[in-house]
Amino acid sequence: MPNPAASTVGVEAIRFVDGALQLLDQRRLPLEERWLHIPDAPAAAQAIHDMVVRGAPAIGITAAYGLALAALQGEDRAAAAARLAASRPTAVNLHWALTRMQGLGAQASPERLLEEARAIHAEDLAQNLRMATEGVGLIGEGARVLTHCNTGALATGGHGTALGVIRSAWRAGRLQAVYHTETRPWLQGARLTAWELASEGIPATMIADAACAQLMAEGQVDWVIVGADRIAANGDTANKIGTRTLAECAHAYGVGFMVVAPSGTIDAQCPDGSRIPIESRSGDELCTLAGHRVAPEGCAAWNPVFDVTPAARIDAIVCERGVARPKQGDRASRLLDEALPG
Ligand code: MRU
Repeated sequence: MPNPAASTVGVEAIRFVDGALQLLDQRRLPLEERWLHIPDAPAAAQAIHDMVVRGAPAIGITAAYGLALAALQGEDRAAAAARLAASRPTAVNLHWALTRMQGLGAQASPERLLEEARAIHAEDLAQNLRMATEGVGLIGEGARVLTHCNTGALATGGHGTALGVIRSAWRAGRLQAVYHTETRPWLQGARLTAWELASEGIPATMIADAACAQLMAEGQVDWVIVGADRIAANGDTANKIGTRTLAECAHAYGVGFMVVAPSGTIDAQCPDGSRIPIESRSGDELCTLAGHRVAPEGCAAWNPVFDVTPAARIDAIVCERGVARPKQGDRASRLLDEALPG
């Protein structure tokens, strides 16, 4: 079955072909497009941990295929699921996908698990397209938007969440300007978002993460549009480190703040952002740049890779089921009760 992502954009991150999982190694982009063969569930877990594949929905899809691989190869499914679940802590989509796969029952055939993983993959693309329609509806004509990290086809089953809204808004002729951050320290904005936008011919301007206040103060931004790794029931949202800075600046300068994420990113069991586990990675990621040391040996570095934006700073949470408005007291968990649009 072809990856449906290829039908909307020429970029895909995950393939399952001829009984094998393949991942585009995102650590090497944009300089090199190398696909890695992922033979089994432990290799899938390692690839998630090592950021070969990243972005909350893409991590969930990869974990689903990883569990299908475990079943196809007769590995211990429970052990494989535990290993996959531990690969990265913040993105709840990982747990959502594994719970859905395990919901098929311990006796489900390997073929059935693979079918479910393919369904999760295809549904993610369909959800992105629905969210894009909702999100575009919130943006006025000639809008100037700023996004963070990479939330495009590379981070999802195709099209993207926040970048999907931007992609669709651009195609609809609604945008006057697209800005994106570089997104230190992994440079998902500089390496991946710039690459995705360029491959679709969408003109964009990159800013240093620290330039966001100046850009907004100069009145150059109408909407900040970001993705999410976990949305608590009250709407507090964990996303790439720096998102909260963008939200505080948006608040200070009267700029709209939109979060775009599928319903699998909403964690109804998590009452508020204080309960969201925040991944902390090695300080070496800050002390080096593209493999070269930039800080002196022994420099201490603190490297949390996500932060939590309070619901009170979010104008709209867009998911495939509709839109919640946290600033107006709307809870994100309400979206889980909405019927899917027909
Ligand atoms: O560390 P990453 O690259 O996995 O972080 C990704 C993000 O923070 C994205 O904004 C989020 O996962 C949404 S992706 C559609």
